[in-house]
Amino acid sequence: MQASTTGTEPLKNLEEWDDFVASRYKPGKSESEFRNYNADANPTVTEFYRQNHAHQTLDYVLHKKAEYGKLNRGKKSIWEAAEYLNTLVDESDPDTDLSQIEHLLQTSEAIRKDGHPRWMVLTGFIHDLGKVLCLYGEPQWGVVGDTFPVGCAYSDQIVFPEFFEANPDSKVPQFQTKYGIYEPNCGLDKVHLSWGHDEYIYDVTRNYVPEPAQYMLRYHSFYPAHKHGAYRHLMNDHDAEMFEWVKKFNPYDLYSKGAEKPKLKELKPYYDELFAEFFPDKIAW
Ligand SMILES: [Fe+2]
Ligand SMILES: [Fe+2]
Repeated sequence: MQASTTGTEPLKNLEEWDDFVASRYKPGKSESEFRNYNADANPTVTEFYRQNHAHQTLDYVLHKKAEYGKLNRGKKSIWEAAEYLNTLVDESDPDTDLSQIEHLLQTSEAIRKDGHPRWMVLTGFIHDLGKVLCLYGEPQWGVVGDTFPVGCAYSDQIVFPEFFEANPDSKVPQFQTKYGIYEPNCGLDKVHLSWGHDEYIYDVTRNYVPEPAQYMLRYHSFYPAHKHGAYRHLMNDHDAEMFEWVKKFNPYDLYSKGAEKPKLKELKPYYDELFAEFFPDKIAW
């Protein structure tokens, strides 16, 4: 099943966005190099951000949160969700058999090798399961992409800030002040971020995983904050403390790709036990 290329979907597959992020933060790359992307060299990613920045309005985000917050898309185990996500394949990649599960396992295995707690290994495995949004028919710009707060001024630390011109919210003065609809240091839990796979997997799993894991899941694509320190004025001290975990998680998401191919068969018993430690057989999606 090829669910990621319709006429309006700019990315060949969702990994194209992940690859773009990874190349942006290649070790040794400076902050100023980070700003210098060549739109011509990256036409699909550029078009993706054009759509993402134009369509992610406060109103859209509130609607998606309400819609998916019901968790009425059926009950699935973690394995079932991972297998479902795996049906999202990339025609251009001949080696697609385990592509989605592979990224999850490479992330979680890298975390495990470094001796981190079991809940963090678990987080590595589940962090991108929210991409099943794509299989529900959501457009790429509503599934992946760096996240950013809506309902307040856009930080210049967000990639391609010029594309916010086309967002209807940019014409709403109330949404364009520093704090917008929020109070100073109100805490991120009160702040609506652009909708995507982070918020969805957070919502699905929030009752089962410890708080640092919730932060990792919910904010792993919030690059303006965890990489660039933006939006500290909306965060409270507890957020700042928890973001140390988000930062700890990020390298595993970015750089575990291309690591050894994980052997699912061998690893399965470990993960069966790990999932059972935190989750009931099936959870609501
Ligand atoms: Fe992700
Ligand atoms: Fe990821």
